[in-house]
Amino acid sequence: MHINGKAFRTIWFDKKDQTVKIIDQTKLPHKFEIINLKTTKDAINAIKTMKVRGAPLIGATAAYGIVLAIIEKNNPEFINKSSEDFIKSRPTAINLKWAVNRMLKKLSGVNNKEVLKIALEEASSICEEDVKFCENIGLHGLKIIEEIYNKKKNTVNILTHCNAGWLATIDWGTATSPIYHAHKKGIKVHVWVDETRPRNQGAFLTSFELNEEGVPNTIIADNTGGILMQRGEVDMCIVGTDRTIATGDVANKIGTYLKALAAKDNNVPFYVALPSSTIDWETTDLKKIPIEERDSKELSYIEGLDENNNVKKVLIYPKKSKTMNLAFDVTPAQYVTGLITEKGVCEASKEGLKKLFK
Ligand code: MRU
Repeated sequence: MHINGKAFRTIWFDKKDQTVKIIDQTKLPHKFEIINLKTTKDAINAIKTMKVRGAPLIGATAAYGIVLAIIEKNNPEFINKSSEDFIKSRPTAINLKWAVNRMLKKLSGVNNKEVLKIALEEASSICEEDVKFCENIGLHGLKIIEEIYNKKKNTVNILTHCNAGWLATIDWGTATSPIYHAHKKGIKVHVWVDETRPRNQGAFLTSFELNEEGVPNTIIADNTGGILMQRGEVDMCIVGTDRTIATGDVANKIGTYLKALAAKDNNVPFYVALPSSTIDWETTDLKKIPIEERDSKELSYIEGLDENNNVKKVLIYPKKSKTMNLAFDVTPAQYVTGLITEKGVCEASKEGLKKLFK
């Protein structure tokens, strides 16, 4: 997708200087900076500090991180240790484990001379596959939006939470892909963008990328969705996910669950968009999903532009107040209208998923 009219992806490998390039998402929306990841440590740090974030993108970063590990020290112990560090770098998104395991499987038994070439090819195909999957999610989700539009004959209002846009993937996004496809087709859409405290991925990233693509959107405080649904101003919700387990229960950014409850109470369809790399086939108990708890300072400090256009970080809470920062919650499958995947739309259940993914 585009920034300032120029097409970008969120991550790519620069063969000339053997580095991984990313857009530093902690600087958006106020500054656009591309940075180089030169070492495994750089890549792990980029994931931990959320320079890259979003389940598919952190998976791709870990895949390229294995490439960096090979460039740095082509030895099996280092590669294995780095793989473990990548998997631990953020606990909730399953794509990290998925991407690392896929890389290790591909590299097992490969001789030293070939290992870098094969690793690069595999990391690149993880990215290409993600682009294709997200595009297909868009085409399947488009049909749902189109159906609403044909009935309503007016703008379709879609509520989304966090950023499950192209910035969270390689391109297209998951939740945003149906929206971009609808917009390109001339269907009138408008997006209610949940601010998504504390990191404000909705306001800082989703709204930013929708603006760049010319998609009408409005940022709302996280608690606004309920009344908008009561007023009939939300036609559907589409969110992303960091891990959807075999039973169809969905882990996503904190606050997703409350939106799903409000949607159920108001008969608003609540869809979750995801590539199959986000499905955790091994877990069947939603309580077993690890929920990341992040530094509470993310809650008590906020960054923005000051009057001189400089980015400034300020404390917004009483110095003595305790804060707590759980980054994800789990929406039970019963509140999910459907899962929009690269293979089609299915019920959020074991049976639904099995029908699509044999
Ligand atoms: O903490 P983040 O910004 O990595 O959380 C991202 C989300 O919760 C997204 O909705 C999810 O990863 C899906 S991304 C296509």
